[in-house]
Amino acid sequence: MRKNIVAGNWKMNLNRVKGIALVEDILKRLSAENKTEVIFAPSFVHLYKVAKLCENTANVFAASQDCSASEKGAFTGEVSAEMIASCGARYVILGHSERRVNFRETNELLKSKIRQAFANNLEVIFCCGESLEQRQSLVHFEWIKSQISESLFHLSAAELAKIVIAYEPIWAIGTGVTASSDQAQEVHSFIRGVIEEQYGGEVSQNTSILYGGSCNSVNAVELFSQKDIDGGLIGGASLSAENFVAITNSF
Ligand code: PGA
Repeated sequence: MRKNIVAGNWKMNLNRVKGIALVEDILKRLSAENKTEVIFAPSFVHLYKVAKLCENTANVFAASQDCSASEKGAFTGEVSAEMIASCGARYVILGHSERRVNFRETNELLKSKIRQAFANNLEVIFCCGESLEQRQSLVHFEWIKSQISESLFHLSAAELAKIVIAYEPIWAIGTGVTASSDQAQEVHSFIRGVIEEQYGGEVSQNTSILYGGSCNSVNAVELFSQKDIDGGLIGGASLSAENFVAITNSF
């Protein structure tokens, strides 16, 4: 079901003490009437503790930032979807541009990761988005469509209901240059159209599509007021309780 979501992608930040303090601070600041789904995506090593802290607060969940494409076995350093689920996480972020670029993750590999996530009852936050060069050469729509179709279109409609899409233009991530609300809305509406073409209007209207890329407590209100933007995947600003809670209150 389509819902408003704000997810904090901590990336490789915060040690155990600081991570726990941040979650506790945010939970204290969240209003009792909070209707936004709030997600924390810490590093794997904090996942169990963060999930535990979220356990008794409605609409608050933990996510991992990745999972292995394999079920189990001799993959030193990898973390399986089963392990993540057993820590109490509800979501896994897959296909973040930092994974695609730095770790050469392909659309095909992401299909296997999604399979592992679903086999362990995890929901997926699936990231897509173009580079600056792709936008400048006007191939960004085609690129985003291929990321979505190649990794997701083998799924049934029931499976797609367990996918949240995050549109994250690479040129806006960690740069302080956010997409304008018009630019973001244009791509979100395009993504919803791509889902509609394949799965029909009901499924596309029920898909949550988040924006990510220098989203902060100042620009979130305008971004989230756009018709096809259902929330945000937040990097830098998710490391401050004050900013993150302000973003969750921006609907
Ligand atoms: P940013 O990162 O908010 O720091 O730009 C967003 C993301 O990479 O998910």
